[in-house]
Amino acid sequence: MCGIVGFTGAQSAAPILLEGLKKLEYRGYDSAGIAVMADRKIAVHKVTGRISNLCEKTGDGSKVPGTTGIGHTRWATHGAPTEENAHPHLSNDGKFAVVHNGIIENYMSLREELIRDGYHFESETDTEVIVHLIEMFYRGDVREALIKTTNRLRGSYALGVICSEEPGKIYAVREASPLILGIGLGENYFASDVTALVNHTRNVIYLEDGEFAELSEDAIRIFDCTGQVISRKATRILWDVQAAEKGGYEHFMLKEIMEQPGAVKATIAPRIKNGAIEFEEMGLSVAEIKNIRNIIITACGSAYYAGCAGKYAIERLSRIPVDVELASELRYSDPLIDEHTLLIVISQSGETADTIAAMKECKDRGAKALAIVNVVGSSVAKLADYTVYTWAGPEIAVATTKGYTTQVTVLYMLAVFLGDKLGLIGNRKTQMIHSLQSLPRQIQQAFDLNSSIPALAKKYHASKSLFFIGRNTDYAVALEGALKMKEISYLHAEAYAAGELKHGTIALIEEHQPVIALCCNPSIMEKTLSNIVEVKSRGAEVLALTFRNNHKILSVADDLLFVPDIDPLFSAVVEIVPLQLLAYYVAKENGCDIDKPKNLAKSVTVE
Ligand code: AGP
Repeated sequence: MCGIVGFTGAQSAAPILLEGLKKLEYRGYDSAGIAVMADRKIAVHKVTGRISNLCEKTGDGSKVPGTTGIGHTRWATHGAPTEENAHPHLSNDGKFAVVHNGIIENYMSLREELIRDGYHFESETDTEVIVHLIEMFYRGDVREALIKTTNRLRGSYALGVICSEEPGKIYAVREASPLILGIGLGENYFASDVTALVNHTRNVIYLEDGEFAELSEDAIRIFDCTGQVISRKATRILWDVQAAEKGGYEHFMLKEIMEQPGAVKATIAPRIKNGAIEFEEMGLSVAEIKNIRNIIITACGSAYYAGCAGKYAIERLSRIPVDVELASELRYSDPLIDEHTLLIVISQSGETADTIAAMKECKDRGAKALAIVNVVGSSVAKLADYTVYTWAGPEIAVATTKGYTTQVTVLYMLAVFLGDKLGLIGNRKTQMIHSLQSLPRQIQQAFDLNSSIPALAKKYHASKSLFFIGRNTDYAVALEGALKMKEISYLHAEAYAAGELKHGTIALIEEHQPVIALCCNPSIMEKTLSNIVEVKSRGAEVLALTFRNNHKILSVADDLLFVPDIDPLFSAVVEIVPLQLLAYYVAKENGCDIDKPKNLAKSVTVE
């Protein structure tokens, strides 16, 4: 996720662009840049790091003349966070500058075609193909060039474009990434979201997918992909800036929970090619896959629990033994590792000290390391032999949600990928890929099925402790569900393998003890049902998470959370969603600081 802004009017553009980018920094902050037009020339200024570096470089914009420009703050997906990869990107003839938020899924083939046609690339980004296509299609009409360019693109994009042949104009294009037009007096704007606009205007137009806009200081023209002009009424923004940063949600955590369908889709879609899972960026060959005798997954916290969930699918489809180890333990355990070991390192931040230390220890012993990480160019990504990025976008809340679900999604895709390359899944691949592609919709269904969660939170928010129980994948999800509850609501919560309770812990079950029972795997449902009866007979109150038509569980549980019909092989990505929401609303009932829980940091860079 990145942030883009554009301005045209009578004022100096650079200071306004910089101020807008500061408001969008929560969307991405590893590099930034502006492009401003003066005397029919485009000047580009880019930095790595925060917007403050760009302000310093441009004297808060005072050193940059011109009243028309575009700006970008980046969350790297394709290409490390360097000045060359920062936006805006210039066409070879210097006539066009482009900023982009989104992912161009077919950029590799477009890049090869453009290089064959003689275009020179400065960066590793997917975005740069856009500005060269515009140059290629330009015959004096920017709108026509934009329409022809977008006809070649596959993926998501919110674009900002300026052309030195069209002084005083900025162009905006929207497809599956947010883009809003700001209507000023003698000036006009565009931005990725309203936070960058509300200080200048509260009159905005939300562009729709497939729409283009041409903005000058006194006019805004919206048109569709046929060039047909569209009229659109303005909307008045009532949010304050802080609310706008959270997209209107009360907390970043709730915003990021609700972003999960999009984040999981962004992580899956670019990696499905010709009916198979392909990790172009990973570089793990079939020969190297056949050389793997065992897999060790290592991480901390929720990333470790993601590994616990992914283990089942990887073993089932690749038949390679998988151990999941806490990084803080693995590094001191004298691990049995050799050149046949694949180490999978999971980390949202890519900067967790224990995880990095364990990774180094295992690499020193001969393991190859595959990183699953959300931050491009982070320490874990740099240390890895192979890297697969989750494309969740920046995660601001300390408690991870979309970070976890996109990590598990990558593990599921890896399971299918390994099984396919080892020739073990045959024609089941098609069904498995269909199941993966259904995950974003099923997450949305999990939202829709559980409107009762705020009421359930009122019932359970004062509990002394909560037990989460489940078997197999349900147990792995119970681990993450319990951590979510602990870290944001401060209630004591523990997850147990459901079959383990009778070996001691059941002694703690007393009258009205809340037990959250995960029952999302039909093949072991009867077993978990017997565990529910076990604890109920000792006075427990059971909140069951299961399917709507699971009448046996429905008949014994006191309260219910639901999942849609999901493939048990890939269920963790959907099962966790009601538990994230339960933890969120319990924490809200308890008046906790949900985005910044006490004692916690977003990235634990100390041991
Ligand atoms: C999860 O909600 C916590 N914030 C924490 O457990 C986190 O998952 C852990 O510290 C690992 O962080 P990483 O994914 O950035 O390595």
